[in-house]
Amino acid sequence: MTVRHFLSTQDYSRAEIDALLAQAAEFKRSPQGQQLAGKSIALMFFNPSMRTRTSFELGAFQLGGHAIVLSPGKDAWPIEFEMGTVMDGDTEEHIAEVARVLSRYVDIIAVRAFPKFVDWQVDRQDKVLESFAKFATVPVINLETITHPCQELAHALALQEHLGDLQNKKYVLTWTYHPKPLNTAVANSALMIATKMGMDVTLLCPTPEYILDERYMDFAKQNAKDNGGSLQVSHDIESAYRGADVIYAKSWGAIPYFGRWDEEKAIREANKHFIVDEAKMALTNHGLFSHCLPLRRNIKATDAVMDSPACIAIDEAENRLHVQKAVMASLISQSSGGKSGLGF
Ligand code: CP
Repeated sequence: MTVRHFLSTQDYSRAEIDALLAQAAEFKRSPQGQQLAGKSIALMFFNPSMRTRTSFELGAFQLGGHAIVLSPGKDAWPIEFEMGTVMDGDTEEHIAEVARVLSRYVDIIAVRAFPKFVDWQVDRQDKVLESFAKFATVPVINLETITHPCQELAHALALQEHLGDLQNKKYVLTWTYHPKPLNTAVANSALMIATKMGMDVTLLCPTPEYILDERYMDFAKQNAKDNGGSLQVSHDIESAYRGADVIYAKSWGAIPYFGRWDEEKAIREANKHFIVDEAKMALTNHGLFSHCLPLRRNIKATDAVMDSPACIAIDEAENRLHVQKAVMASLISQSSGGKSGLGF
């Protein structure tokens, strides 16, 4: 039987995303269940986490399952993901063995592994996650790599809760300053889910160098076409904010400088005025503001915006719990011989 994973929302149809969101809303109304009774999930964290770890552990517990947290290089052996490619300093074992052994113990493997800069520069592929999916014989969930699909679902659910139907709502993904941008995962994901939900999406960024990688821009263009929305790029703060229903903020590095932050620093610092503040939010259509968190206050968004009723970042963070329960229940249902796994 083919194993279905949750690696990217691009692997899921709009109808399947809608089904996951509906099940998540149901879990929000009625949190306890037995969908994971007797089942277990291994959560592999190559990078730090608060929300993802807490919500997955709790979600598994609430559905009668058990979660085991592993941090390679800390409380598990350092892992090599391709022959000769060191993931965590002194490599001890290959993902081939890790994924196969874990598949004998647990029912789902979930992985957080931000791409190393070298991976990005070589071919921009998501090698750690792909390797787990290749060698595991159980479903694999992406806990944030070069995309963050669980965050996408939580974001979409929060937007639906506040706006209802998202079709052709005006959505702005704005770049914001950060002294040390980490990766483009959530920015890539925001474009993909907003276009998948049929929204009219603007990518607002300081210069063309900050337009996201063409792989994700292409996904977003196709999603917009398939779902009756649109995608445009703007470098004009005022026109992008005007009339917006949603402002979503994220920092990321200029693509040509990825990993060479010192060379890019002057461009980034010249654009600190992209901070989300009350004056910009006043241009919107009583717009909502959100962010995946963690967020540096008064660097990406002001205290006034974060503490305003427009800010739904906490709702979005809460929804991580509900949507991930839907994802786990779906994958377990499917691997247990259930329906599509989305019929619940
Ligand atoms: N948004 C998010 O994934 O948060 P953590 O890094 O705390 O898991």
